[in-house]
Amino acid sequence: MAWITKNSATMPVERRDAPYLDAQLAARLEADVMSCYPTRQAAALPVLHALQKQHGWLCHQAIEEAAAFLQQSPAQLLDTVSFYEEFWLEPKGRYVVWLCQSLTCELMGQRLLLDRIKLKLGAEVGQMTEDGKFTLMTVECLGACGTAPCALVNEQLHENLTVDNLDQ
Ligand code: FES
Repeated sequence: MAWITKNSATMPVERRDAPYLDAQLAARLEADVMSCYPTRQAAALPVLHALQKQHGWLCHQAIEEAAAFLQQSPAQLLDTVSFYEEFWLEPKGRYVVWLCQSLTCELMGQRLLLDRIKLKLGAEVGQMTEDGKFTLMTVECLGACGTAPCALVNEQLHENLTVDNLDQ
């Protein structure tokens, strides 16, 4: 993995007038989430998940608003967001295909499946299709090695995949 540097201190942040973390979401988080954690900072993950669920991904304006809500710096929160591959810093397709690339799935034909999916979608790993419908990702072991090869489509697990049953 190559290290990249980012100009986060001087980076312009695209903004819209309406907040991402609006009053309604803030009230819901205060009522349902914040009291479950000893500090506001400790609630970072559920707050980020709620924001991402509402908007599909986490733009920098949303991260700044969440940081203010959590009383921490945007840079700290961006560190958290960029650490976890479950968080998206750019738009993703309506369906995210997570194809397992770990050993068992690879031995059971994952590479053929990956080639087939790339061809079918016209997208490389990490890319979204032009119509915004699919994003293709690879992931480490999904914990279903007994039925390898497998993939998640959003949160649904698909097992015993073959080139023939893949389209279904
Ligand atoms: Fe793919 Fe375990 S290696 S599910």
